[in-house]
Amino acid sequence: MPLLEARNLSKSYGADALVVDDVSFSIAKGATLGLVGESGSGKSTIARMVLGLIEPTSGEVTFDGESITKASTRAMRALRRRVQVVFQDPFAALNPRMKIADIVAEPLRIHRACPRSEIRPRTAELLRSVGLDESALQRFPHEFSGGQRQRINIARALALRPELLVLDEPVSALDVSVGAQIVNLLRDLQREHQLTYLFISHSMPLVRYLSTDIAVLYRGRLVEYGTAAEICESPRETYTRTLLAATPEIVLT
Ligand SMILES: Nc1ncnc2c1ncn2[C@@H]1O[C@H](COP(=O)(O)OP(=O)(O)OP(=O)(O)O)[C@@H](O)[C@H]1O
Ligand SMILES: [Mg+2]
Repeated sequence: MPLLEARNLSKSYGADALVVDDVSFSIAKGATLGLVGESGSGKSTIARMVLGLIEPTSGEVTFDGESITKASTRAMRALRRRVQVVFQDPFAALNPRMKIADIVAEPLRIHRACPRSEIRPRTAELLRSVGLDESALQRFPHEFSGGQRQRINIARALALRPELLVLDEPVSALDVSVGAQIVNLLRDLQREHQLTYLFISHSMPLVRYLSTDIAVLYRGRLVEYGTAAEICESPRETYTRTLLAATPEIVLT
């Protein structure tokens, strides 16, 4: 059974036309599905449906066999621990009035995920795991660069030991070299914690670097979907070939 499955997902906002149109995919445990498409193609809308933040107009998302779309409040609370998200904008995502220690510990407190006495050491351990020093704990978000802030977002996302991370353009707002470091961090964390990723990007070179499977979205529809090797070596669609021909913005080693 796949860890995540999206079946015939469609979405329109209000009475407007569908912005996601009959999209189906699945992600096996430990795999990375790269969801690639240009701006406005519906990537974040799919992410929000996967996270249970918005309801699909039709179709369903299941996680570990359980419906996210039709989850009760109680079931949703349990699912929230297992599915976490990192958004594009590392500045907007962090409360400027909170110390890093409290930002990273917040999910642990909300979900009462560990005894009080263990919150501090666990928070320090989370920061170390994303390459930040313990001295960051008592500082505020504005004291950090974009890349460091994204590391803090990742630390917080990992706090509840989730199984699936939804990564919605996590490096698009960062400088090229900083973005490459974050992508490498994500790759290392995935191996270390057996994480499953839905990795969203408009950049095929990036998607290709991280993904085991690739789904190409064009105007709300999946125009191509298969293993990364299939898609990159023998793309069937002209649109996919255009994406593959794009020069890498990020040099990955
Ligand atoms: N809350 C909303 N209300 C109305 N329309 C919306 C809303 N959110 C997104 N849309 C529209 O839905 C379409 C898909 O948007 P979405 O944000 O999912 O695309 P995206 O692929 O994530 O784009 P980007 O690469 O710019 O992040 C766009 O036409 C957008 O204008
Ligand atoms: Mg988006």
